[in-house]
Amino acid sequence: MTDVVVSGLMKQYNTKPALRSLDLSIKSGEFITLLGPSGCGKTTTLRCLAGLERPTAGTVSLGGRVVVDTERGVFVPPDKRHVGMVFQSYALWPHMSVAENVAYPLKIAGVRGQERQDRIRDLLEAVGLEKYEKRQVTALSGGQQQRVALARALAARPGIIFYDEPLSNLDTKLRYQMGQQVRALHNRFETTSVYVTHDQEEAITLSDRIIVMNHGVIEQQGTPEEIYDRPRSAYVADFMGFQNITTGEVVGGSGARAEVKLSGSDIVLGAYADTVPAIGSPVSLAFRSEHIRLADQRPSAVGHFTGTVSRSTFVGSAYNLLLDAEGTTIRARIGRSELDAQNLPTPAPGDALSFEVNAHRALLVEPFDTAAGSGH
Ligand SMILES: Nc1ncnc2c1ncn2[C@@H]1O[C@H](COP(=O)(O)OP(=O)(O)O)[C@@H](O)[C@H]1O
Ligand SMILES: [Mg+2]
Repeated sequence: MTDVVVSGLMKQYNTKPALRSLDLSIKSGEFITLLGPSGCGKTTTLRCLAGLERPTAGTVSLGGRVVVDTERGVFVPPDKRHVGMVFQSYALWPHMSVAENVAYPLKIAGVRGQERQDRIRDLLEAVGLEKYEKRQVTALSGGQQQRVALARALAARPGIIFYDEPLSNLDTKLRYQMGQQVRALHNRFETTSVYVTHDQEEAITLSDRIIVMNHGVIEQQGTPEEIYDRPRSAYVADFMGFQNITTGEVVGGSGARAEVKLSGSDIVLGAYADTVPAIGSPVSLAFRSEHIRLADQRPSAVGHFTGTVSRSTFVGSAYNLLLDAEGTTIRARIGRSELDAQNLPTPAPGDALSFEVNAHRALLVEPFDTAAGSGH
């Protein structure tokens, strides 16, 4: 296992900044995910850590060893960093068999004879490919090829493995299974893992900690629960699937609860806030469509509103409703079990219903940074 400490990491391509002074530390044995939309700098970060890219400025140390220090001219090449890598494109050697691909890093590391054979067998068993040892890698399916790549990355027992969107070429069902396998291998081989993805679900299900990136900086980091439940900014809320991100004005509140009047409407919602801003402050508010439920007829109470259905989409276990709500648009997700429990028919366009927003789940968030162009 290997810890990682990154300080002041910058990378410019020509004059365009891809990373803008990144500070980061990863504990030994941690499974960490870099998450964010295309172009936010995930791959560049990973490549700087692995040694495939020379940073413009900053320091990187792996397991206490300085591998990059631009001021002192230190740059340790990738093959001397004792790291494993898995890419979206499997990058296997096509002219070699499965076993030969896995054997290659062992050869380089000087592992010979029976020990090499034992380790290859153990690795192929770990990824469920023991029966494919002699197979040409080009004869395997995408999922199998990626398992060969996993075994190969683990072969030399690196302290840390870097993954760059390794499951993106696989279909949905296989992606989930392979993700679970990646996590199981991380646990079994006791590596540190740095995993890049743009898929929030993958990040949530695999990681100990998620780092959300935005235009070459870290926007927020935390456990999957923290990132999912308590995004600090509209950017992270949007990326994590909050369907309602709106603006309003603080009209009251105390403790960790703010009361916010939505812009352009008379709706007042309760929302969680670390500290409640002064009355009259403009704020951004985020809540998920599932943070709304059908309510009794009390539209004037805080958290309550009347919405007229303008669109109702059946999504299996629920209906996604687009609501015209007292001058603003709100997206709600109403479970079928909730409708059944209240003996209500399927919501249809034109229906006017009463709703309530869960004040413990709605959040005040930092507004979209329009200067960085990350807004809607
Ligand atoms: N080799 C390169 N040459 C020039 N620009 C690059 C290169 N690699 C990445 N970039 C730019 O750096 C930024 C970050 O890219 P990248 O790290 O690949 O993002 P991500 O992996 O999050 O999609 C993007 O604006 C991208 O266009
Ligand atoms: Mg990338």
